[in-house]
Amino acid sequence: MPTFLPLRTFGRTSLRVTPLCVGCAPLGNMPETFAYDVAENEALATLRAGFQSPINFLDTAASYGDGESERRIGLVLRELGGLPVGFVLASKADRDLKTGDFSGDQIKRSVERSLHLLGMTKLQIMYLHDPEHAKFEDILAKGGAVDALMKFKEQGVIGHVGVAGGPIELMIRYVETGMFEAVITHNRYTLLNRSANPLLDMAAKLGIAVLNAAPYGSGILAKGPDAYPRYAYQAADSLTLERVRAMDAVCKRHKVPLAAAALQFSMIDPRITSTIVGVSKAERLAQTVELAHAPIPAELWAELDAVGYAIDDPEANRWTRP
Ligand SMILES: NC(=O)c1ccc[n+]([C@@H]2O[C@H](COP(=O)([O-])OP(=O)(O)OC[C@H]3O[C@@H](n4cnc5c(N)ncnc54)[C@H](OP(=O)(O)O)[C@@H]3O)[C@@H](O)[C@H]2O)c1
Repeated sequence: MPTFLPLRTFGRTSLRVTPLCVGCAPLGNMPETFAYDVAENEALATLRAGFQSPINFLDTAASYGDGESERRIGLVLRELGGLPVGFVLASKADRDLKTGDFSGDQIKRSVERSLHLLGMTKLQIMYLHDPEHAKFEDILAKGGAVDALMKFKEQGVIGHVGVAGGPIELMIRYVETGMFEAVITHNRYTLLNRSANPLLDMAAKLGIAVLNAAPYGSGILAKGPDAYPRYAYQAADSLTLERVRAMDAVCKRHKVPLAAAALQFSMIDPRITSTIVGVSKAERLAQTVELAHAPIPAELWAELDAVGYAIDDPEANRWTRP
């Protein structure tokens, strides 16, 4: 089984990352998001397996389990004596989850808590996380959230500042400012939903790093529509379920696991620097690398396209424009 994952340059930075990234959201134990619990020992075993895998890139956020994902990563980093050489760890600065405060002061507190939980004095990458929960103008105001992140960058505490979030039009507005070195989109460039296309085009043209998160649409394309009938952290609608079943049938005819097609759909796109896959079990690391290498006949892609996919926002009913 091949395990080699060639490194790619992270946008215009000197960081080199694998085309796969370990997504640590499920490790924060977020039953309200994923509909299942993840015990600490399971999370720590997953992280240990991650640091022994060919994947050199991890993604977390202050808000994942309100610090729990970072706390668990910090426990393993302490066992290892710090972030092993050659690994890249990214986190995200968040609003206060209880009050919604997304001010510059809050972002400063968020970054400081991340450093404390992770047991690190510097972070290679920090994203502005889910800015759809505040007004664009407030986030970019003097003394606001972005200003706070840029101050950390000036001080050398943060290496690179990116932006990560949902609504595509809004993400394009952030990327257009030219202030960010990377962008994360999620659940919007999968076999089932391709609404991120314009963002991917623009970010790739600008030469910033592009991270595609949730290639399984939060799980359905890996676990199947019966075991996990959810897309983007909510119950999947009947059309989505129908399409997953049809895609699964197409894949079965070609003897390709649906998860392999879902993963490689993202990995083969030249606009995407790395694909962030959420995992909460140690065996997922080897499974993910294997799925990334599964042979896929070229004609499968057109057959999957023919099943159909959405181009509207999969979370349109989940947030209100502030
Ligand atoms: N706003 C943002 O910046 C943002 C938003 C969303 C996601 N992200 C990042 O992207 C990552 C990925 O997103 P996600 O975790 O929401 O969704 P995802 O990667 O589409 O799916 C994760 C789910 O797939 C399951 N899975 C993974 N590999 C599997 C395999 N080989 N077999 C069976 N099931 C498998 C995992 O199950 P198990 O738990 O059982 O392993 C988990 O439930 C997140 O963890 C996070 O780091 C960022």
